[in-house]
Amino acid sequence: MTTTTLTAAPAAPLLDRLFKEADAASPASIAAFAKVSAEERTRLMRSKTDYVEFYGQMKDLPLPVSRETGVLLYMLARTCRARTIVEFGTSFGISTLHLAAALRDNGGGRLITTEFEPSKIARARKNLTDGGLVDLVEFREGDALETLSVDLPEAIDLLLLDGAKALYPEILGLVESRLRVGALIVADNADHSPEYVARVRSTANGYLSVPFAEDVELSLRIG
Ligand SMILES: C[S@@+](CC[C@H](N)C(=O)[O-])C[C@H]1O[C@@H](n2cnc3c(N)ncnc32)[C@H](O)[C@@H]1O
Repeated sequence: MTTTTLTAAPAAPLLDRLFKEADAASPASIAAFAKVSAEERTRLMRSKTDYVEFYGQMKDLPLPVSRETGVLLYMLARTCRARTIVEFGTSFGISTLHLAAALRDNGGGRLITTEFEPSKIARARKNLTDGGLVDLVEFREGDALETLSVDLPEAIDLLLLDGAKALYPEILGLVESRLRVGALIVADNADHSPEYVARVRSTANGYLSVPFAEDVELSLRIG
């Protein structure tokens, strides 16, 4: 039988458990957050300044990509034979597990992931250890605006944007010069950053881009 790192133990049963735990936890389960109106939530999600407070309230929640987006990440990283990946927004490391599994099946590589909540970094490190993939991952603790402004690989094959939505243009700006032609960018819930969507949908800016699946903007670096 043909198998992959994603679909075999230890990653597969671990991800199954993590997704089930994520299903059981939601932002509404946080008392302080449940009181916030839908409008205020949208404002916070789009704010370039209040994101620390917003995500701080949700520091005990995994907030992962969907199961489908997880598999999509694995497939895209395999297809572009990624060896260098950058991820904005680690949380508990569910997307990180998918991307690292692809790196393993591509023959190895380096995944830089960044998160400002120390407890989330600790959980993600444990999950990547339990998944047998921690050797492929460099965890950068702190605000991605700082942690991704230094020491990036010469060429990046895939970028996942899944931190504060309002910062997608700024994070893309930090990484852009290292994205190789043919690199893929997956931006989760990019509809919360119209500025980002407008930028990647303009070929003049060096991208081809389409909305893909339910929540994802998928872009290709063309020059
Ligand atoms: C939607 S969750 C990421 C989920 C993760 N990609 C997954 O699928 O498992 C977003 C995470 O980004 C973190 N975050 C938001 N803005 C950040 C920033 N500027 N720098 C570092 N981490 C940030 C939040 O604390 C939160 O844990």
